[in-house]
Amino acid sequence: MMKLTRRRNLKVVVPAVAVIGIMLGVVGYSPTLYRLFCAATGYGGTTQRVDSDMGTVSGRVITVQFDSNVAPGLPWRFEQVQREVKVRLGEQQLVSFTAENLTDQAIVGHATFNVTPQTTGIYFNKIQCFCFDEERLNAHQKVDMPVVFFVDPALASDPETRDVDTITLSYTFFRSVNPENAKDLSRFIASAEPDPVRGEQLVCHALGANKTGPMLGGVFERKAGSAAGYKYSPALSSADLDWSAENLDRWLSDPRKFIVGARMPVRVLDEASRRDIIAYLDKETREMNDRSELKSVAQGAANLHPKE
Ligand code: HEM
Repeated sequence: MMKLTRRRNLKVVVPAVAVIGIMLGVVGYSPTLYRLFCAATGYGGTTQRVDSDMGTVSGRVITVQFDSNVAPGLPWRFEQVQREVKVRLGEQQLVSFTAENLTDQAIVGHATFNVTPQTTGIYFNKIQCFCFDEERLNAHQKVDMPVVFFVDPALASDPETRDVDTITLSYTFFRSVNPENAKDLSRFIASAEPDPVRGEQLVCHALGANKTGPMLGGVFERKAGSAAGYKYSPALSSADLDWSAENLDRWLSDPRKFIVGARMPVRVLDEASRRDIIAYLDKETREMNDRSELKSVAQGAANLHPKE
């Protein structure tokens, strides 16, 4: 009899403990789950993070305004450089925010962002390589942080968003509770001399794969539109030029003006950033050429003295 009652009790207690455990787990992870849910759906104005935009640019122009905030407990100044920009749907824009640490010790901040109207969240895309998660600012350091975004042309055909003509991107920095794996914001500080290390941070394309546009490994002095396996716009494949420093500078300032009909949707308006990007592409190409020269010398030697 006793045994039977105990078994019955266990039948009730075990599922009850399991349910309580699951509920506690859900509560514990709810901020993370909520963030993942918002990122996947755009709910609450959460913007999307993408590797690249390879889509089309439409003629419709909308205004994007910027707003910046610092949560209590983070002694930073954080401000947008441009108050607003006009963009065509699908066109990428690079804008900047300035962050300054007001104290004499390094501090790690964490950025969150959303857009209003909230219904536009799923159409507002930030390019992944310019997202800011855990970021360290050294004592009294001040940096300009680039943000690259585009608004998906599908916004114009959604009944919920088709009448929207202004979107506000709002950034808030909090003091980080996870400072261990922070990246250093000094990667964005421009120096007086060309700085290939900073340039590397600003290049979104991969070097060895066609991903965000054609692969850029060895692009310096390469013929335009000639990366193997990449489907260029007719304008770029038929462009008769090599990527010299001067041509790269004109391309990065305004690709669609330099080669009419080209598809690269981003402009790098800041001169020091263009200079550093070009220094990086030049250095990278020279290193790549050195590596293949060494390889062919080694190959030649191996041919002269083949193994028995
Ligand atoms: C700011 C850093 C960037 C640099 C230095 C850069 C550089 C270049 C260069 C040199 C080319 C021509 C390559 C060739 O002829 O083989 C190119 C093409 C291209 N880039 Fe970029 N790019 C940058 C950012 C981006 C971004 C952010 C995107 C898109 C997300 C992008 C998308 C493209 C596309 C689609 C093409 C091919 C254009 C066409 O076929 O007309 N680029 N880029």
